[in-house]
Amino acid sequence: MPLRVRAWILGVGIAAIFPLLILLLYSPPDGGQRAELAQFLGRFHPLAVHFPVALLLLVLVLEGAALARQSWDLRQSAGFVLGLATVAAIGSAWLGWLLAWSGGYEGSLVSRHMWGGVSLAAASLACWGLYGWKRSVYAAALLATAGLMIWTSDQGGKLTHGDTFLTEHLPRPLRRWLGGQRPSEVDPSSFYAMRVQPIFEDKCVLCHNAGKFKGKLRLDSYEHVMRGGKDGLVIHPGEPGKSELFRRVTLAPDNKDFMPAEGKAALSGAETKIIEVWIAAGATTHIAETAIQGLPPSSRENAVSPPLTADYRPQLKEITALETSLGVRLVPRSQNPTDGLILRTVSAPERCTDASLAQLAPVANLIVDAELARTRVTDKGMQAIANFSNLRFLDLSNTAVTSAGVKELMKLEKLESLNLTQTRVAHTTAAELQAKPSMKRLYLFETH
Ligand code: HEC
Repeated sequence: MPLRVRAWILGVGIAAIFPLLILLLYSPPDGGQRAELAQFLGRFHPLAVHFPVALLLLVLVLEGAALARQSWDLRQSAGFVLGLATVAAIGSAWLGWLLAWSGGYEGSLVSRHMWGGVSLAAASLACWGLYGWKRSVYAAALLATAGLMIWTSDQGGKLTHGDTFLTEHLPRPLRRWLGGQRPSEVDPSSFYAMRVQPIFEDKCVLCHNAGKFKGKLRLDSYEHVMRGGKDGLVIHPGEPGKSELFRRVTLAPDNKDFMPAEGKAALSGAETKIIEVWIAAGATTHIAETAIQGLPPSSRENAVSPPLTADYRPQLKEITALETSLGVRLVPRSQNPTDGLILRTVSAPERCTDASLAQLAPVANLIVDAELARTRVTDKGMQAIANFSNLRFLDLSNTAVTSAGVKELMKLEKLESLNLTQTRVAHTTAAELQAKPSMKRLYLFETH
C-alpha cells in the first residue's frame, strides 16, 4: 500500500477515535438513562465486542504462523485482519459509549472498561500504522495490545457477570494459591437472608448492583450492604436513626435523597419495620428471637400452602405409560410433588379425544391443569373431566364443546380458570359459570 494511502487511512482512524475521547472526557456516563435510539444501538455493544477480540487473536495466530513458516502470504493476511480488527474495535468503542452514556451506567468499573476500550481502539490503529515498518517495534506493540485487550474484556465481563464470575468456581487449591477468597455466603436460613435481602432484591438492587452501583453502593449481598457507599457506612449496627440507609427509606417521598430513587415503588410499612428491627438488633445475619417478636410474618413463611394433590411419584410408571399410549404429556407443575400435574396436548392436539380423557381416569385426581385447546374433545368428554376432582385450570378453547358439556364442569369444586374461547357455549351457561364460587377467570372471546 502506498505510503500516502496509509497516512490517509490513519488520519481517518484518528478522526474516528478523537471525538470519542472528547465525549469520554466531557460527557462520561453518569447513570442517567436517556435517548431511546442510543440505548437501542448501545445494546449491540455486548454482541459487537466479540469481533475485535476474535480478530486481534487471529492476528497473533497469523503472525505466529508467518514467523514459523517464513510465509509472506500469511504475514500479508495478518495486516489485512489487523485492519479489520481496528475497524471493529473503533465501532465497538462507539457502541460501548452509547450504551454506558444512555443506559444508566456509572462507576469505576464502567470507567475502567471504557478507557480500556478506547485505548484498545487507538492501540490497534497504532499497530496497523506500525505494521510493515520496524518488525520488532510492531511485534512489541501487538503483544501489548493483546494484553490490553484481555484486561479490557475482563473488565467488561465483570460488568455483565459480576466480579467473581470467573473465580467463583475456581478449584480450591488454585484459589488458595492465587489468594482469592470466595465472598462469604450468608446462611440462607438466617434472618438477613430470609427477610432483609429479599427487600433489597425487590426494590433496590436494580440500581445498586455490580454493574450499576449508584452512590457507589451495592445492595446485592450482606458484605456489600455492610461495606457502604460513597459516603461511607450506610448501616450503623444498633442505631437505625444514624443509619443512612434507614434514613433514606423513611424520608418524605418527595425528598431528593429518598430511596428508592426516580419514583420507583417505595418500601411498605412492613418492609421499613423489618429493616429497622434488623439494624436495631445489631444488623448481624442472625438476630435474636426476642427482636423478631411483633414483626408481621413473612409472606414466604405464609407461602407454605397445603398440597394440591397426592404425591404423583408412586404412579410414575402409570403416568409414563399413559403418556406414550395417548400421545399427551403429564408434566409436574413444580418441583413439589404434591403440586399436581399439567395435562398437555399441544404437540398433537388432534390425537386427544373423549376416549383419551376417559383413559386418564387412574391419574384423574393428580391433574390440576388441563390444556385441551384445539383437541377433538366434545361434550361427552366433559363427563370424564368432571371426575378430575383437583382440576383448577381448564382450557377448552377451539373445541366442539357446547353448553351441555360445560354444565358437567359445575361439579368441579376447585375450578378457578376456564377458557371457552371460540366454543359454542350459550350466554346462560356463562352466567351460571360466573356465579360459581371457585371461579376466578372465565374466558369467552368469540362466543355467543
Ligand atoms: C432508580 C435507581 C435507584 C433505586 C431503585 C435505589 N437507589 Fe439508592 N441511590 C440511587 C442513586 C442515583 C444514588 C446516588 C445519589 C444519592 O446519593 O442520592 C443512590 C444512593 C443511595 C444511598 C447513599 C449511598 C451513599 O453512600 O451515599 C443509599 C443508602 C441508598 N441509595 C439506598 C437505597 C435503598 C435502600 C434502595 C431500595 C429501597 C435504593 N437505594 C434504591 C439510585 C437508586
